[in-house]
Amino acid sequence: MTSIILDVDTGIDDALAIATAARSAAIDLVACTVVWGNVDVEQGARNTSEILALAGRDDVPVAVGAAGPYDGRPAWYSPQVHGEDGLGGFADLDHVARRSDRTAVETILAASHAVQDLELVAVGPLTNLAHALDADPTLPERIRQVTVMGGAVLRRGNVNAFAEANIHHDPEAAAIVLAAPWEVTLVGLDVTMDSIITEAMRDELARGDALGRRLAAMLDAYMDFYEPVLGRRAAVNHDAVALGIATGLVPTTRSPLATVTVDCSDGPERGRTHAALELVDGVWQDEPDARHRVVLEVGDGFERRMLDILQRRP
Ligand code: BDR
Ligand code: CA
Repeated sequence: MTSIILDVDTGIDDALAIATAARSAAIDLVACTVVWGNVDVEQGARNTSEILALAGRDDVPVAVGAAGPYDGRPAWYSPQVHGEDGLGGFADLDHVARRSDRTAVETILAASHAVQDLELVAVGPLTNLAHALDADPTLPERIRQVTVMGGAVLRRGNVNAFAEANIHHDPEAAAIVLAAPWEVTLVGLDVTMDSIITEAMRDELARGDALGRRLAAMLDAYMDFYEPVLGRRAAVNHDAVALGIATGLVPTTRSPLATVTVDCSDGPERGRTHAALELVDGVWQDEPDARHRVVLEVGDGFERRMLDILQRRP
């Protein structure tokens, strides 16, 4: 059993990750902490609460975090990908959202003391984690591992040619998280672009319970965005891949240790991730003493396992 805090900016692929964590028997979902990103943080919290309720997990705290970037720039969102409500137009306006009395930072710090071997899985901009490190620089001593959906090391970005959305939203926060003395596994577009939800998978979810039906409706909207990107009607499963790697649902088959840095300039490459990767005779080398693991390849079959988990009842 892996104990995690899932830090989310709940759009459609975050919803899939939340639902998978909520229904997996192998994951102890300690809390969801919410950050700005795909939508504003209040809408993200509503969406998170709603997905947990649909998954039958009203017991999981939802803690609200940062409303904008670490350095105080204005926030901006991704309605073109996830819809104005973040759930492709399928957020339930009647849902009465639950939220914890604790902030995201308070939740992370409290859990770091209370939960043995806690892992942080961050699938939005890294603002909450950067604030948690500011609030208590000893936090890394109590965290087993940090897994981040973010970055693009060998592949092109998805905001522009260079940068991936989560890192591009808050490069300063990402740089703080990468500089902290903990181990960070970076699950970037290098692998998430290959995790595909097909129409057949969406149809399978649509034949399931209320959670499955809602996820299927959202996926249909998400496919409207991804169809021209992929050249076929399907969707990319970014955030759940990071969850799967953190919790052992999907093995990594190539993930060299390398120091990752972030472009924090105001130039065209703002938000780009660079890794000091070295390929010798076809084998990626581990950089001695590096604390960042860059995932370049994962094993097959995760999407099928994820679908089976989503269709479990709690
Ligand atoms: C990341 O950006 C967001 O739109 C997704 O939820 C995911 O976390 C992919 O670049
Ligand atoms: Ca996300």
